[in-house]
Amino acid sequence: MFIQSFKVESPNVKYTETEIHSVYSYETTELAHENRNGTYQWVVKPKTVKYEFRTDTRVPKLGVMLVGWGGNNGATLTGGVIANREGISWATKDKVQQANYFGSLTQASSIRVGSYNGEEIYAPFKSLLPMVNPDEVVFGGWDISNMNLADAMARAKVFDIDLQKQLRPYMEHMVPLPGIYDPDFIAANQGTRANNVIKGTKKEQVQQITKDIKEFKEANKVDKVVVLWTANTERYSNVMVGLNDTMESLLASLDKDEPEISPSTLYAIACILENVPFINGSPQNTFVPGLIDLAIQRNSLIGGDDFKSGQTKMKSVLVDFLVGAGIKPTSIVSYNHLGNNDGMNLSAPQTFRSKEISKSNVVDDMVASNGILYEPGEHPDHVVVIKYVPYVGDSKRAMDEYTSEIFMGGKSTIVLHNTCEDSLLAAPIILDLVLLAELSTRIQLKADGEGKFHSFHPVATILSYLTKAPLVIANTKFFLSINCLQKLYCKVIGVGLVLQVPPGTPVVNALSKQRAMLENIMRACVGLAPENNMILEYK
Ligand code: NAI
Repeated sequence: MFIQSFKVESPNVKYTETEIHSVYSYETTELAHENRNGTYQWVVKPKTVKYEFRTDTRVPKLGVMLVGWGGNNGATLTGGVIANREGISWATKDKVQQANYFGSLTQASSIRVGSYNGEEIYAPFKSLLPMVNPDEVVFGGWDISNMNLADAMARAKVFDIDLQKQLRPYMEHMVPLPGIYDPDFIAANQGTRANNVIKGTKKEQVQQITKDIKEFKEANKVDKVVVLWTANTERYSNVMVGLNDTMESLLASLDKDEPEISPSTLYAIACILENVPFINGSPQNTFVPGLIDLAIQRNSLIGGDDFKSGQTKMKSVLVDFLVGAGIKPTSIVSYNHLGNNDGMNLSAPQTFRSKEISKSNVVDDMVASNGILYEPGEHPDHVVVIKYVPYVGDSKRAMDEYTSEIFMGGKSTIVLHNTCEDSLLAAPIILDLVLLAELSTRIQLKADGEGKFHSFHPVATILSYLTKAPLVIANTKFFLSINCLQKLYCKVIGVGLVLQVPPGTPVVNALSKQRAMLENIMRACVGLAPENNMILEYK
C-alpha cells in the first residue's frame, strides 16, 4: 500500500512550529587491533552513541544558478521543471505524455514505512522531511554562450517538438549571464561558442560572480541560492605546494592572477565566500585542496564530483551484486559513444582524462570488501572508452562487458547495452543534488558529549548517491605533506600531479549503501530506526 504522508509519534521526537527535534541511538561498531597475551587480534565492540538532530522545517524559496545553463543539461532541466509546474502535456507518436519527475530520487522514489496488517506500507521519499518543491525553484545562471534557453533547448534536440513549442514562450526570455572562459581548461573545439564572457583578472571575475549571485537573489526574492556546475568538463588543474594546496596559497594565487586556477574553481571560490552551496557535476578537480580548506574554514557546503547518471550507476550496482554474491569480476570494459557538445568536448585528450579518472575508481570499495576473491592489491582490468559520434546527438550509447570468475574456474560474461538521452538522465539528478544540498543546510546535529549543535561537515558526503567520484571529508593536515603523498597517490592512478581523494578516508561507491546512508540519515532526523530489512515481527 502507498500512503502520501505520515507523522512520527515518539517520546524521542518533538515537532515545534519551526523544527523537528529528534533523539537518536546510533548503533555502531568499534574496532581495535590489540595485543592480547602477546598476540595481536581484532577486537570488535558494539557501541551506541546518542545523537540529537534538529531540522528547520521552514522551507525556503530556492534559487538555483547553473554554470553552463545553456547546455543540454541546463536547458533540459529548466524546460522539464517548467513543464511540471505548468502541468504541460504533449503528443508523442505513442500517447499523450504528462510532465513528470521520473529519475529523481527525491520526487519519484519511495521508502518503506513499515507493515500494517501484514501489508508493506510505502510513502514518497520526499515525505520524510520538508523539502523544496521543485516546481517552485527559480532558475538562472551563467554560460559562455549567450544563446537563450528556448534556442538552447532546440539545439539540444532532447524534447519532443510538441513539448518544445509549448515551452518556447517560457524560455525565450531566459538568457544566461556571461561566464568565466579560459580556453586552456576546456577543448579547443568549444572556442566558437564563447561569445558571452566575463573580462578582467581572476579576482575581478570572482567579484563579478559574487555580484551576480547577490543580484539574482535580490531580483527573484529568493531566500537561498544553490550553485551547480553543469558546464563543460575541464582538464585537471595542477596541484602544487604554494599554488593551491591551502586556503592561503589559493587566495594568494587569486591575487596574483595565477593561470592555473580553473574557471570552475573561481566560481566555487565566489560561492564559498558568499556561503552559497556549490556542487560540481563534472569530473575535474575543481575542489583542489586549498578550495576544500577554504570551504571548511568558512563552513560552506561543497559537493561533487560528476553526476552519476548511467553507466557508472549501473556499474556501482552490478559489481556490488557480483562481489556480494561471491563472484569475482576480473574484467570490466566500458565503451560509450555520444554526439552532443559534451561528447565533442570530451574528444580532447585532457578533458577525456578527467572523465576517465572519475569513472575508474568506482569499483574499488567493492573489490576491497572481499579478501576471499581478491588478493591484496589485486584489481579487475577496468577500461573506459568514450568516442564522439555526432549523428547520435544526446542519445548516448553505453556498452559494457563484465567478465567474472565463477565456481570451479568457470567464466561468466555479462554484456549490457544502454541507449538513452543523456540529459534526461542527468536533469533529475541535478534536481536531487540541489534539493538535498538545500535540505542538508537546514539540519543540525550533535553527538553525546558535544557541547553545541553543528551542521553537517561542509564536504557533503550525503550527496554521494548522485555522484560518480564522491568528494570525501578531507583532513586538512594531510595537505601539508602534499608533495610526497601526491607521488604515492599518482603512482596508484598513473597520472601526474593529481590529488583527488585523500588516503584514509572511506569512499563508498556501492549504490545501495549510498542510498541507505541518505535515507537512514533522513529517517534519523524524524527519530525512525534505519531500514534493516530484518522483519523479525514475522519470524
Ligand atoms: P553541454 O556541452 O551541452 O553544456 C555545457 C555548457 O557549459 C555549454 O552551454 C557551454 O557553453 C557552457 N560552458 C562551458 N564552460 C563554461 C564556463 N566556464 N562558464 C559558464 N558556462 C560554460 O554539456 P551537457 O551535456 O549539458 O553536460 C554538462 C556537464 O555535465 C559535462 O561536463 C558532462 O561531462 C557532465 N555530465 C553529464 C552527464 C549526463 O548524463 N548528461 C553525466 C555526468 C556528467
